[in-house]
This record gives sequence, C-alpha cells and structure tokens, in this order.
Amino acid sequence: MSTNRDVMNREEIEARIEKTDITLPPPKTEPDRQYYFMKMLRTVVEEKKKELGRPLYANITTFGCQMNARDSEKIAGIMNIIGYEQTDSNEADFLLYNTCTVRENANLKVYGRLGQLKRQKEKNPEMVIALCGCMMQEPEVVEKIKKSYRNVDIIFGTHNIYKIAELLLSKLSDRPESKKMLVDVWEGTTEIVEELPNERKYSFKSGVNIMFGCNNFCSYCIVPYVRGRERSREPEDILAEIECMVRDGVVEVMLLGQNVNSYGKNLKKPVSFAELLECVEKVEGLSRIRFMTSHPKDLSDELIEVMGRSEKICRQLHLPLQSGSSRLLKTMNRHYTKEDYLLLVRKIRRAVPDISLTTDIIVGFPGETEEDFEETMDVVRQVEFDSAFTFIYSKRTGTPAAAMEEQVPEAVVKERFDRLLALVQEISARKTEKEVGKVHEVLVEEVNEQDSSLLTGRTSGNYIVHFAGEAKQIGTVVPVRLEESKGFYYMGVQLPSEV
Ligand code: 5AD
Ligand code: SF4
Repeated sequence: MSTNRDVMNREEIEARIEKTDITLPPPKTEPDRQYYFMKMLRTVVEEKKKELGRPLYANITTFGCQMNARDSEKIAGIMNIIGYEQTDSNEADFLLYNTCTVRENANLKVYGRLGQLKRQKEKNPEMVIALCGCMMQEPEVVEKIKKSYRNVDIIFGTHNIYKIAELLLSKLSDRPESKKMLVDVWEGTTEIVEELPNERKYSFKSGVNIMFGCNNFCSYCIVPYVRGRERSREPEDILAEIECMVRDGVVEVMLLGQNVNSYGKNLKKPVSFAELLECVEKVEGLSRIRFMTSHPKDLSDELIEVMGRSEKICRQLHLPLQSGSSRLLKTMNRHYTKEDYLLLVRKIRRAVPDISLTTDIIVGFPGETEEDFEETMDVVRQVEFDSAFTFIYSKRTGTPAAAMEEQVPEAVVKERFDRLLALVQEISARKTEKEVGKVHEVLVEEVNEQDSSLLTGRTSGNYIVHFAGEAKQIGTVVPVRLEESKGFYYMGVQLPSEV
C-alpha cells in the first residue's frame, strides 16, 4: 500500500521545512503549524550556537512505559530538526523529563530529580527545564511544581507532546530574566497529529502507536484520567509509517496501545486489531511483529487464529492478570473471572503452543484476603508464566480504589509480594531451563556492554541471549543454540545461517 502520508525521513522533512513560509502568520492546522515553529526555532538556535561558540544540547529522560518511550522519540525527532544535539549529561541546554504516574514512586523519582537540578540551573541560568507526560496531567502535581520547583520552565501533558517546538519558541522568546513558567496541559483531545519527525532509539526496531488512551477504568488505574479516551489511528497511517520505517532499516515493530485488542472500534470505518495485524503482516521486508498491551476481556478468537497462522507475529503475549480472585477482579472492574482467564490461556496455547506468556499482577489491592491472594498464586502455578511483573498496590488519587476501605496493611502486602515473587522466579527458572539445547531465531540488537566480543539479541519469545558474533550482524536475525540459562537471560552459540 502506498499513500502520501509517510513524511518521516529526513529529506522529506527538510523539503517540508523548506516550503514553510515564516514571513506569513503561523498556520492554524497541524502539523503545518509545528513545521512553522520548527523553522523559526532553527534561526533562534543557530544564533544561540554562534553566540556561545558551541552546540546546544538536549537531554531527554523517559520514565514509565513503551508509550512514553515512543513519545520521547517524537520529541527527540523535533529537537534534532531544530538543531539540538542529544546528550546523556545533566548539563544540557534543554532538559526534559517525560514522566509516569502509574504508581506513587514514579512521582517521587521525578521530585527527587528536580531537587537535584537546582545547582545545574545556577551554573547555566539559560538552561530550559521541561516536564511532560502522565504525571503532568494531574492538577495537584502541577500546583506542587508551581509552588516548590520554580526552576521548571515548561510543563505540558500527554495530549500535546507534538507542540514542543511551539512551546520552546515561546519560552526562548521571553526576556532572559523572565521566570514565568509556561504551563500547557490539556484535559483531553480527539486529535491525532501525523507526519511529524521522530528519532528512533534503534535503527532496526521501533514502537508504533496504533491507538492512544484507554476506556477501561480499572478501579486502581490512573491511566484513563491522564491519557484520555481511546482514539485509534487510521490503518493507512499506521501502515504508511511502518512501510517508511522498513525502508529505513526496521525489521521489528511493536504495535503500541493501552489496550490493543480494542483497536479500531472508534474509527469511521471500524477495523479489528486482528485485521490490522493481517495488513501489517503483509509489509514486505518486515520480519517481526510484537504488540502490547492486551486486555484479556477483549482478546478475540479471531486474534488467536491470526496469531496461530502468522509467520511474523512473535511467540510472545503480555496478558495482564492483575489478580486471580474473581471477587477482586470484579472490584478491579476487569470484566473477566479467574476461569475466563484460564480458559483464554488454554485457547492461546492450543493455537500457539510455543508462546511465551508474561503478565502483570497487583498485590495488596483493597480488600485482598489471604484466600484472594491464594487464588492469584493458584493461577500463577497453573499458567506457569514465563515471567511476571509484580506490583505492590499503590493508591492513586481520583481512582475508585483510592476511596475503598479495607486497605491491606503494609506488612501483609510485603509478605505476600515476597511469596509471589519467589513463585514467579521459581517457575521462570524452570521454564527457561527447559529451552536449553534448543535453537532459536534471534534478532541481534547490540554489542554486549560488558564484553564486546559478545552480541545481545532477543528470541521471538522475547528472551535475551548473549552469544559470540560480529557487530555488523546488528539488526539481522540469526539462529542461536541456547547453551545455558541464567534466569533472565541465556548464553548461546550462533549457528551457521543455513541450519
Ligand atoms: N498500583 C499498582 N500497580 C498498578 N498498575 C496500574 N495501576 C496500579 C496501581 N495503582 C500496574 C498494573 C498494570 C501495570 C502497567 O501497572 O498491573 O498492568
Ligand atoms: Fe489502566 Fe486498565 Fe486501561 Fe490498563 S486497561 S491502562 S490497567 S485502566
């Protein structure tokens, strides 16, 4: 499929900037409006560089999930076009924290970092500190920052990350001594802005947003409040983006959405997630497809069938359980029971026997009794997850669960959490041990950080493998025999590709 919407590579972006006329007033529609501000900022940045006699640096730190990681790549793409160089150093001219707020400790991390930045700003008073992402969608957070962290220059949310050029220009146009904090946080939007630059972290794999927001309102979760209602991208836009990425060397995509199984329901011409996957499968040159996250209540038989016959969909499924107690699943507003979940797993394993299953589990949800917790342990024993992310319940202001009585005492939660973790790790170790001796197709991702004679890659089931090889193999898929299991990763031996 070919459309005119794949404006993503550098030449096409440069052509678009070239034809933008900044002698006129700014355009009213996106993304033209942002190209206008990018072009204006280029001049400002050039002048600043001349004045300082050095490059300008941007440091972007991402907290949280893959959605945030992808948002940061979009911001990095815009910053590069404007003329900033990326750095890991704190002594940057533009420093951005893309924040998460799914659990309380995510917020605490950001406050900690902001405290440390005070000295950096004293050294470089022209440094711009910006905050964006989920945490900024909480009004009380913004109030606290306004009061206690006056060194912050720009705050924006999850709905307008594409506006970074416009916001930065407005900040840099302020008088230098201005201490005004620019706050632009929207409550929601139905708009999806396409055709903007982005900078991938890896040349050969990438996340691809297929939808934004969530309609589920699980009673513990803050995401629907900070990311808004579900909006799906048009399949043509998604495919055009993937095709463009493949032309640029990408072999693996991760389709991203809070609940990918409800993709396409709100489109003018509804398309199911399974149908979208079948179209993505047809993109020539693409080797692997992953997706996350899947809500068990929406995982259709059609999807299981597509996964079963697909050549490209990886043998990996992340299927958050949250709890094994049907009673708690009800108060969590999850719309499935323990039995539904177990049945679903059986169906998936029948269609895709070698699938690697991972999950999320919350311990200590309000009202969780020892019996409820034992139900969770029972599901973990029955399903034998390849791995599980285990979380201690965190009270999020504004969610229904925060108002529930019967919060579980901390010591009880901690003891249960440790028991669950031990079980999850024991099962993981047993399962990884079973794969030793088998040959897996591995996508080579990087040269090993600790030992440069080794490469690091991932199996279709998303297991990490280290093995000897050459850097030029990065981005290719090679056969590797798993020799030794080390818990979270394997040591392996690369076989000749004909095998
Ligand atoms: N407390 C603990 N864990 C949570 N999660 C979401 N909200 C909370 C919360 N309030 C977990 C869920 C979700 C994962 C991304 O984070 O398990 O699947
Ligand atoms: Fe949160 Fe539930 Fe939506 Fe996942 S599906 S983002 S847990 S509300």
